[in-house]
Amino acid sequence: MAGVGVATTGAFVAQSERRPAEGGAATWRKVARLDSLERGRPLKAAVIGAVEDAWIRSPDRRIGSVWLIRDDERAVRAYSAVCPHLGCSIDRADDRFVCKCHDSHFTEQGGVVDGPSPRGMDPLEARVADGWVEVKYRKFKLGTSERVEG
Ligand code: FES
Repeated sequence: MAGVGVATTGAFVAQSERRPAEGGAATWRKVARLDSLERGRPLKAAVIGAVEDAWIRSPDRRIGSVWLIRDDERAVRAYSAVCPHLGCSIDRADDRFVCKCHDSHFTEQGGVVDGPSPRGMDPLEARVADGWVEVKYRKFKLGTSERVEG
């Protein structure tokens, strides 16, 4: 029985202390090939990175998702796919960004249209390098109208 108790406690600590391996500093991460993006057609991409907790470093884990929008030949915008309300995933429905948890809707520029989200989608730095779209993935506080990293 003691072994079960230790494992349960360990799992809780690992979950609560999980963090990006680089200590929280945003670094450029490749998320999609530029040629996989059609102009005006948003693409959801996984953000992959190393994660570490109290005991272990796990490379190549999914640390988040972003929405990418290609505006022209080399200009790409990126938004976090985390809903600023309570953190559900933002998806697409009827050619709009929508969070189905509590029915928030967002414009193509990330602005909030309706629903309980206190702010628009969180923009992220994006660039094109060597045929790849790269983003600096960040997390922001939920439930606040101010965009505060954390
Ligand atoms: Fe998105 Fe509530 S978490 S609307």
